[in-house]
Amino acid sequence: MKTINVSASTEYDVVIGSGILESLGSRCADLLGKSRAAVITDSNVAPLWLDKAVSSLKNAGIDVITYVFPAGEESKCKETLFEILEFMAENKLTRSDFAVALGGGVTGDMTGLAASLYLRGIPFVQVPTTLLAAVDSSVGGKTAVNLTAGKNLMGAFYQPSLVVCDTDTLGTLSPEIFADGMAEVIKYGVVFDRELFDTVKSGKVESNIENVIARCVELKRDVVAKDEFDKGDRQLLNFGHTMAHSIEKLSNFEISHGSAVAIGMVIAAKAGAKLGWSKEDCTAEIIEANQNNNLPVECDFSPDALADVALSDKKRTGGTINFVAPEKIGKCYLKKVPVDVLYEIARCK
Ligand code: GLY
Repeated sequence: MKTINVSASTEYDVVIGSGILESLGSRCADLLGKSRAAVITDSNVAPLWLDKAVSSLKNAGIDVITYVFPAGEESKCKETLFEILEFMAENKLTRSDFAVALGGGVTGDMTGLAASLYLRGIPFVQVPTTLLAAVDSSVGGKTAVNLTAGKNLMGAFYQPSLVVCDTDTLGTLSPEIFADGMAEVIKYGVVFDRELFDTVKSGKVESNIENVIARCVELKRDVVAKDEFDKGDRQLLNFGHTMAHSIEKLSNFEISHGSAVAIGMVIAAKAGAKLGWSKEDCTAEIIEANQNNNLPVECDFSPDALADVALSDKKRTGGTINFVAPEKIGKCYLKKVPVDVLYEIARCK
């Protein structure tokens, strides 16, 4: 078991290990008191892990209410957010109570936002059950739902009080959902850590998953400590995401976030090499890492369509964007480019 302390506007632990869902209740009771917990989860995760989470909380003397919403990105919307808020209100949750996000990125992001809004803020605990949530979205306090105009456009920075990552939950993931998380792991390797990249490049990570998650969380801890509010270095975590958001949107979210990031990283590497922004061409190694981890390396959308959608991306500031360019595997940097350059980047695909 590993514990990583994150120091942002608030300080909290990320605990990673096998079988630790059983200790969720005692950890919450120690930290937040024996109040009430609203456990929010989706229809995929509920049959697998909800009973275990609820038993653990109840055994620790915590009263529990549960809310299950339909699984899927379509649920990450203002309607579900408001249903969760109404559910909290109907059940008369107070500021002494807390929310638990049991699930993947959609659950974590939406529960975190509901927790930030309800009574102007109640504590919440992240219990990630996907690799993507474990290595990225459950840590760092980005919460959001999607708007019609784009992903994650309605959100807040709101840190959890605790993250409990039971690696056993990853055992029930389909190969596709596991691969989705590996795209984010590969991203951490390319952006910050050549050694991590080499560890995961072969695609044989299952036996080493606790260390891999812990390393990603350490890297995220460091970047969040420096730039919690995403004004500088934290934007490095968007490596591959500019084109990924376009790919997701153009596919009507048929292409998953992880697959889109995998393709987006290849486009960014090709752009880095072709436009002279990279010291070393990273394309071949990223393609190899993607393929060994069951991730795609290309898509059929036209460069102009990709760039058009990217232009409406929320990270656009004035006439420029901060594009994450790979210098080499293990080191990326932010390159401020005029928005028109998005078309040149997309044409490198
Ligand atoms: N998922 C990227 C970030 O937390 O900044």
